[in-house]
Amino acid sequence: MRDEQAYLISDAEYLSPALGRVFHFVAKRASGSYIYDLNEKPYLDMTSGIAVNQLGHSHPEVVEAITKQAQESIHTSCVVHYPANIELAEALAGIMPGDINSTFFCNSGAEAADGALKLIKILQPGRNNFIVHRGSFHGRTLGATALTTSKASYRKYFDPLIPGVNVINFPNTFACKTIDERRSFENQMHKEIELMFATHVAPESVAAIFIEPVLGEGGYLPAPIEYVNYLKHLRTLCDKHGILLVFDEVQSGMARTGKWFASEHYGVVPDIQLMAKGLSGGLPLGAFATRKELMYKMPPGSHGSTYGGNPICCRAALKMIEIIKRDKVLDKVLDSSEYIFKYFENKFPGSNSHKLSDTEIHSPVKVRGLGLMIGLEFASGEITTKIKEYAYSKQVLVLPCGAYGNIIRLAPDLTMSEADIQKGLDIIAEAIKLYC
Ligand SMILES: Cc1ncc(COP(=O)(O)O)c(C=O)c1O
Repeated sequence: MRDEQAYLISDAEYLSPALGRVFHFVAKRASGSYIYDLNEKPYLDMTSGIAVNQLGHSHPEVVEAITKQAQESIHTSCVVHYPANIELAEALAGIMPGDINSTFFCNSGAEAADGALKLIKILQPGRNNFIVHRGSFHGRTLGATALTTSKASYRKYFDPLIPGVNVINFPNTFACKTIDERRSFENQMHKEIELMFATHVAPESVAAIFIEPVLGEGGYLPAPIEYVNYLKHLRTLCDKHGILLVFDEVQSGMARTGKWFASEHYGVVPDIQLMAKGLSGGLPLGAFATRKELMYKMPPGSHGSTYGGNPICCRAALKMIEIIKRDKVLDKVLDSSEYIFKYFENKFPGSNSHKLSDTEIHSPVKVRGLGLMIGLEFASGEITTKIKEYAYSKQVLVLPCGAYGNIIRLAPDLTMSEADIQKGLDIIAEAIKLYC
């Protein structure tokens, strides 16, 4: 095998620079919660491949399921029907919220968003407006890029994108320092869409509202739930005006927040749900899903995919769902989440953004999130860069997010041991004490 330097030289020579990298080491292998470099140096992975590897890297039972499937068949495409594909659609119907029971498989989150846009166009003829939330990330295809507002650099070279995309603020009640502030903020938030409807976007022209129940790239920010249920508010508005409600659960879905889908925390069922990332825990699989009567409005041939929902990805997803149920992973996620919040509250009193008192308690870090989708907010992006680099020097991998890069996101695999979580947090806490 070549050494690291030789690989990095070839990387720069032959790969597109468009795809940025965060850490410049070459991974030889990955297993459980660790990635190993070419010299077998281990790195604790608190990114899980950007919130993908729900059961850690290369879970042996998933590897076995993939191997067995590969021996039976790797790819047939839509030339025929195949069991793994049908079994997975059935299994998803059993865990998706409410009456969502019909799935279209594709290869990624962006494709899921694009496919959903086509479905919406079929379902809502004559309604040419969409509403998205500022800070959202829905993917990199042109359709998904048009819906994405998490960073201007993602859109910079590509305007004009599809027309009719209207942006409203994602309500960040965590920015409020006191209970009173939060209450008045919530009144304002309710008025925002109504003002948009009254001033420049007639509600009967809106086809769909898109939201990530927990904003991912935009800052690991759950939609408000404590004082007012924002998703319920959207559901009511959508029902009133005949608008479709789309939850992008690409990052927040598949057990990441301690429920199969984050919408369950809010008790709200969308019309359309997007999935990818954790759906097959590391293999390229995406999906959009809706009620059968809506999905059946999409005539045969109106959408398609050569690879989407191929047998290997579907087998991996089926095995993952089986293990999550068998090993009670949803409970484990909630326990680990509570552990992380308590850890920070002990080290940095006042850090829990979900708990407000009448007066502000200063903390160098503010912690918010659902399940194992936890955001650590700092005063600036410079601080998070230093924390990320310090952690890297101690062989712990964490990623920043948010428009200003001032959030560290914790998205470990859902089965990371308490000892490893503590090891990662201890290093982050050391960095906070050094740099804040
Ligand atoms: C919420 C959300 N939607 C869509 C996407 C796009 O997914 P993909 O990169 O698989 O196209 C992402 C990726 O980060 C995401 O977080």
